[in-house]
Amino acid sequence: MLKSIPARFFATSAVFALIGMIWGIQMSISHNHTLSPAHAHLNLIGFVIMAVYGVYYALTPAAGASKAASIHYWLTVAAVVVMTPGIALAITENGEAPAAIGSILALLSMGMFLRVILRHGVGALHPQTTP
Ligand code: HEM
Repeated sequence: MLKSIPARFFATSAVFALIGMIWGIQMSISHNHTLSPAHAHLNLIGFVIMAVYGVYYALTPAAGASKAASIHYWLTVAAVVVMTPGIALAITENGEAPAAIGSILALLSMGMFLRVILRHGVGALHPQTTP
């Protein structure tokens, strides 16, 4: 199920968006916005950035077929899963280590994105033949 890398990025981004939106509605109803930075990072890294990565891999099949793409996917999922509760823990003064680790994972994920772009270019053609 969902073997293609773009489908995995898109489906996971939709799952994170659904959780983030339900969380946003819960914050609105409760009038408690304390954890809004955690909600924001879940939506922005989990939904927006993951969907951007999905668009890139859909445009660039050679990159999507690479081993790096799968590592990139799991690195990004790990960043969201560690960073989101990490920010909530930091805000409630229950420790900053998970937020710090999640931030580093997010940074590595973006570095991996740059590496994949430099290796495969953008689009179906090889970078050297792309106009
Ligand atoms: C059903 C959908 C959503 C609801 C009900 C919702 C609700 C909220 C609420 C109540 C806040 C706190 C506002 C405040 O304290 O001033 C907030 C903040 C925020 N939300 Fe959402 N949100 C939703 C979806 C999204 C999405 C899809 C994104 C990004 C793609 C997003 C990004 C943000 C950002 C950046 C903040 C500001 C965080 C901060 O200032 O610390 N939200 N949202």
